[in-house]
Parts: sequence; structure tokens; C-alpha cells
Amino acid sequence: MHTESRSQIKKVLVIGLGQLGLPVAKYVKERGFETFGYDINPVKVENAEKKYGIKSIECFDDIDVFILCISTHDPNDEYTPFVDGLFSVAQKISREAKNGSLVSIESTVPKGTSKKIFEMLNHRLHVAHAPHRWYALEEDVHGVNQVRVVGGVSDCCLKTALQFYDSGNEVLEFNNNNTQTNKKNGLGIPMHPVSEIEIAELTKIVENADRYMQIAFSEDLYLYCQANNVNFGELRDALNTKWNVKILEPRDGVGGHCLPKDTKMFLQSSKSIKSKILMAAMEVDQDYRRFREIRGYRLVPPTINSS
Ligand SMILES: NC(=O)c1ccc[n+]([C@@H]2O[C@H](COP(=O)([O-])OP(=O)(O)OC[C@H]3O[C@@H](n4cnc5c(N)ncnc54)[C@H](O)[C@@H]3O)[C@@H](O)[C@H]2O)c1
Repeated sequence: MHTESRSQIKKVLVIGLGQLGLPVAKYVKERGFETFGYDINPVKVENAEKKYGIKSIECFDDIDVFILCISTHDPNDEYTPFVDGLFSVAQKISREAKNGSLVSIESTVPKGTSKKIFEMLNHRLHVAHAPHRWYALEEDVHGVNQVRVVGGVSDCCLKTALQFYDSGNEVLEFNNNNTQTNKKNGLGIPMHPVSEIEIAELTKIVENADRYMQIAFSEDLYLYCQANNVNFGELRDALNTKWNVKILEPRDGVGGHCLPKDTKMFLQSSKSIKSKILMAAMEVDQDYRRFREIRGYRLVPPTINSS
């Protein structure tokens, strides 16, 4: 397969300009790439153009890197995984893209999705998965350029992705007046490469399943305290004085749609063994929500516990 070298990567298209895709497009543009945006929702495209000068595009034939930030939940049920949007975009890329471009899936996806997309592209393009740890409430510290895991369908896919993401070194260039300029050559994001793309897929959904479990344990403990007349806040403060204990606050329950959706993706990724502890955690979250509903507690913004 023809491979794009780092210096050949000029045009980057971010597909899906929502909560995640918009800051990604802004970041890519700031790193000096000619940056385009595409979304099925024209309002998102207009917004990206107005806010950050991200150019809209309809034809994908001259793009070097495609970054997919499409939603992966069912439009009718935000807790249910759904990858049809990704597959329909992959079909358009397959029809229009030139050979050797990179398709980097940054959406959270079920295990096996990246290889299916590679098949849909008829092995003509590189496919990598670099899932996100972006966090809306702490974008300054947990933004686009924090350390990320990356996997490729094959070695050359991984190599191409690493060149695009990782090469943050500044290079010297001379312009027409022979003055020296510093040019950043890649995204400058520290990457942790893994040998199988499925490991990258699993990393993201297991991270969120782990967070789900930690919150569910605090819900469980809270319900225990209610049933046994124990002050939860005081118990939690006392527990958290130990160096390796960190009990979270249960707040409004497992929040946002990503944690439930991604935990389901993980449970569905196994045909045989299902994680019993996660299935129990889901039951605990239901009990905790019922408990709060019966007492008429106010809902707090759901993103608070999300990642
Ligand atoms: N937002 C976060 O904090 C966050 C963090 C980590 C990972 N993620 C993951 O990133 C992905 C995107 O999340 P988000 O929060 O930005 O979602 P979002 O709903 O805010 O944005 C997704 C965008 O994709 C667009 N879209 C959907 N189908 C499309 C299609 N077929 N073609 C073109 N565009 C399409 C939608 O119109 C929307 O603008 C999800 O997989 C999510 O799990 C999100």
C-alpha cells in the first residue's frame, strides 16, 4: 500500500463536529494543518466555520487524514451503542478517498469496529484507533493533547498514525525572505502505541467501565449507610485518609451517557464470559436512582461523573 509520509500530510478532515470533534478540529488547525470539517448536521458545520475558521467540505478526494469523531450512541437511546453513523461515513470515504490516506477513529467504538471499517475501505487506506480522554469540565488539563493510546490495523497503519499524532518536534524552515521559521510537524500528542487495534478499542471502554464500577461502589456504600443509619460523608472522609483508598461521591448516580454506553460496549464484547461485577454495578446504579427518585431528589448535571 502507498504510504503518506509525515511531510505529505497537509489536509485533515474532522468528521463529526460535536462536543469532541469541535475542539479536535480547533487543535488540528492550531497545529498548522489545513483543516476541514464535515457533519450531517449543517448547523455544526456553520458553527465550526464561524468560531474557528474550519472549512466545510463535501468531497473527500484530496484528504490526507480523516479523523472520525462521530457519536456512537443510538439516536433514540443514548445509553445504547450504535455505530451505523461511522459505517455510513466509512462508505463515503471508501468511494471518494485517495489511496494511502489515514483514517483515525477517535470515537469510542465496540471491539472489532476498526477492522470492519478497514475491510469497508478495501485495504486502500490506513486505519488507526486513538480513543479520547477529553473531559469537558477540565479541558485545560484533560484536553485533546493528553497522553492517548493508539493501535493500528497493521504495522504500517500504526506507523502512519504515530507520525501524524506524535511528531511534535519543531523543524526549521526558510521562507521566501530566507528568514528562519519554526514549523510544528505533527499533532504533538504523547501516544502510547499498542500491538493490536482491539487493545486500543478495549482500553477506552474498560476505562469507562472501571469508572462506572467505582461510582457504583460509592452508591452501594451510600445505600448501606442509609439502611444502617451511618453518616456516609463522615465514613467517606475517614476512608479517604488512607493512601490507597479513594471512594467517590455517588452524587446523581452514574452520570453522562458515555459511562453506561461504553460499559455496555464492554459487556457486549464478550460472547461467553460476561463481567459479573459490572452487571452487579448496573443493578446498584438502578437501585440508587430508584432510592433518590422515591425521595424526590433534584437531578444534578449528568456530565459531572462522566469522562
Ligand atoms: N464528549 C466527550 O466528552 C467524549 C469523551 C471521550 C470520547 N467521546 C466519544 O466521542 C464520540 C463523539 O462524542 P461527542 O460527545 O462529540 O458526540 P456529539 O453527539 O456531541 O457529536 C457527534 C457529532 O457527530 C455527528 N454525526 C453523527 N452521525 C454522523 C454521520 N453519519 N456523519 C457525519 N456526522 C455525524 C453529529 O451530528 C454530531 O455533531 C463518541 O463516540 C463519544 O463516546 C466523547
